[in-house]
Amino acid sequence: MSSPLPVGVLISGWGANLQALMNACALPGFPARIAIVISNNPDARGLRIAKEAGIPAYAINHRDYPDRLAFEAAVDAMLREAEVELVCLAGFMRLLTEQFVNSWPDKLVNVHPSLLPLYKGMDTHKRAIADGQEYAGCTIHFVRPAMDDGPIIVQGRVKILPGDTPNALSTRVLEKELLCFPLALKLIAEGRVTVKDEKVVISGELPKEDWLLIGN
Ligand code: GAR
Repeated sequence: MSSPLPVGVLISGWGANLQALMNACALPGFPARIAIVISNNPDARGLRIAKEAGIPAYAINHRDYPDRLAFEAAVDAMLREAEVELVCLAGFMRLLTEQFVNSWPDKLVNVHPSLLPLYKGMDTHKRAIADGQEYAGCTIHFVRPAMDDGPIIVQGRVKILPGDTPNALSTRVLEKELLCFPLALKLIAEGRVTVKDEKVVISGELPKEDWLLIGN
């Protein structure tokens, strides 16, 4: 078997998605390993859980840098030093410049709490409820320079219930995030995911679940 794909994870906060990726990577035979965790927020709980699991984890506080490019240069240097081949944005709440995104072509993956292309940006659940949508969900996608844009790998769909609040809905969507992100990582690390004409193509058998949507 080939050696597991070295992955860098960028976070800003609690780290539920990071924990799900860590759990997956700890499974015997999982095709990826987390080589480094970086948080722009030094107080992120995610940094603590990574360190406790023995994963190299560092804060690079964006406030310590004069501008976005200088901050990103520091992040980039640390990721390259750790020799990562894929970067997962797991609740990373900084926008990345075109320069940074283009320097990791199809090697940057994000989780966003909506069924993209609907509800890019913030307050996704509140907006989905206000619009009377039948479904909310999450998307794991390759990152492009435009915010919350890029070829979709997998999506997790959740029915919006009568009387749903953004909080209640976000809890149910997060459950799907924690399943979808490890699945996307596994498929990528197995070398089964390619991007063709800005659409994701996945080879081989895929899990069939009524809540799971695959590709664009
Ligand atoms: C997750 O719900 C993720 O989808 C969202 O932040 C949360 C992070 O939680 N990401 C974004 O909104 C990015 N646009 P976590 O730190 O507990 O994984």
